[in-house]
Amino acid sequence: MNPPYETGMRAVTVRPALSEDLDAVLAIRNHAIEHGTALWTDTPQSRAEGAAWLGAHLERGSAYVAECGGAGGAVVGFGVYGPWKDYSGFRHTVENSVYVADGHHGKGIGSTLLGTLVTSARAADLHVMIAGIEAGNTASVRLHERHGFEHAGTVREVGTKFGRWLDLTLMRLQLN
Ligand SMILES: CC(C)(COP(=O)(O)OP(=O)(O)OC[C@H]1O[C@@H](n2cnc3c(N)ncnc32)[C@H](O)[C@@H]1OP(=O)(O)O)[C@@H](O)C(=O)NCCC(=O)NCCS
Repeated sequence: MNPPYETGMRAVTVRPALSEDLDAVLAIRNHAIEHGTALWTDTPQSRAEGAAWLGAHLERGSAYVAECGGAGGAVVGFGVYGPWKDYSGFRHTVENSVYVADGHHGKGIGSTLLGTLVTSARAADLHVMIAGIEAGNTASVRLHERHGFEHAGTVREVGTKFGRWLDLTLMRLQLN
């Protein structure tokens, strides 16, 4: 299947990201940084940092966005995958990130984005996809289980945010 991909609901389309999507993607990312424990930092990403981050994904073809209302609509979610670790021995393994804007959760958008990432990474002949999830993030754990990810363990208290320790659940999908 070639992009763009459509959800069961016709109203949302997933397509490869473009540099013009930066502001929308950054707004979703920075909202998650400010209000949630999915991203373990308190520091919002500047436009320049966001452009460098998205630019690296665009070069690799590893970034997708979900548009509400069909093609050309508002961007309501994004998904990316990139190197899990920098050492060359890890080059066949990637880590994903999926974020859906507040008010659009629970409508299948995250699932369509993750399905697109898996299809894309398989086509790129990658071997394993990893998700690093805050252990209490039941929506993300469920989302990944739904796509066949297996639990690879939980590492206790390796992060902190909002004055409490955070546990990291690792999930793993065999791609090829
Ligand atoms: C996690 C996230 C991406 C899921 O996307 P979504 O569009 O809301 O999820 P979907 O509607 O595609 O649902 C996917 C699965 O998760 C389940 N799910 C969704 N929200 C849930 C919740 N709050 N609690 C439990 N399960 C939930 C759905 O029922 C579905 O499972 P099913 O197919 O067995 O019914 C979204 O909630 C989000 O952006 N959260 C904030 C950022 C974040 O945590 N990102 C992940 C970082 S690891």
